Formats: sequence, C-alpha cells, structure tokens
Amino acid sequence: MPKSSGVFAFDAYGTLFDFNAAIARHRAAAGPDADRFSELWRQKQLEYTWIHTLSGRYEEFWTLTQRALDHTFARIPSVSRELRGALLDAYLKLDAFADALTVLTELKARGERTAILSNGSPAMLASAVEAAGLKSNLDAVLSVDTVKMFKPRPEVYALVTKEFSVSAGEVMFVSSNRWDAMGA
Ligand code: LAC
Repeated sequence: MPKSSGVFAFDAYGTLFDFNAAIARHRAAAGPDADRFSELWRQKQLEYTWIHTLSGRYEEFWTLTQRALDHTFARIPSVSRELRGALLDAYLKLDAFADALTVLTELKARGERTAILSNGSPAMLASAVEAAGLKSNLDAVLSVDTVKMFKPRPEVYALVTKEFSVSAGEVMFVSSNRWDAMGA
C-alpha cells in the first residue's frame, strides 16, 4: 500500500500573506509613521482575538481587524483616516510572500496535502487566496469561524486533524507566530 501523504497546514496572516502589504501600498500617503501604524494595527488585532476568546465572546476576525484599525488611527493621528477604506480593501487582497506559491506548488507536486488554518473569516481568506493565486494548491482553507474561537485554543488546531482524519503527529504546521506554533 502506498504510504499516505502528510498534511502541511499553514497560518495565513504573517506566514503566507504579508499583512504589512496593506500599508506598503499606501506608504506615501500614510507618511513617516507607516511602519509603526502597521505594527500597532496587527498587535491590536491579535490582542482583540485573545480577549474575545478568553471572555467567550466571538466576533469575526474581519470585525476585529476593523476595530483594531480604528484604534490605530486614534493612537497614531498622523496617518489620515481617509485611508481607512483603502487599507481595508488592501487587507482583503494582501500580497503573498514571494516563496508562498512555490512552496505550495512543490508540496502538491510531491503528493502532500495542504491547508490554511487561520483566524481569518471565510470571506477574508477566500479573497486573499484568490488574489494571491494560491487556490489550486490548497486542499482546504480552514477558518476558526467553524468553532467560533481564536488561536491558540486547541479546538482550532483540531480542525486540521478532523478535516484530514489524521493525528496531530502527521501534521506539519507552519506559522511565523511563535504563540501559534505553540498552540499547534
Ligand atoms: C492567522 C493569524 C494568526 O492567520 O495570523 O490565523
């Protein structure tokens, strides 16, 4: 019998998709605080996911992403709020990192199974995957929305083992976020 293939599950934001790409596209308009702005936006976005999960009150990642952006505008007033719509649009179509497509293509060519496991809401993920042209190299796009709690709750990582009917030891989970790798 052929050996069953492995499962490679990837985090989305910060691992496959570059969340700094949103501000990068509007860097000139954002001004000198652009990098600090992007960092705080991301930090607040994650903080909100943890607070919502700890308090047992789930709201979609897209909602929290918008709230985190509004917080960031308030904290860094040098960046014009007129960029709000453009930054959110850009977030829905983030650039993938340069090696993302190559890695996924090679894994599929080797017969491995591939997935995204992300805090992202299904619509956000579908949009990002489509924009980056990754769709045909992914067997599954799994969102925490199914379990209505965010990473690093164990229920989230169990979505992968359940989807592919494998044990945790058969999954290679890839994330640029250490706390995410810890959860997996
Ligand atoms: C995600 C966040 C954690 O995609 O980057 O799940």
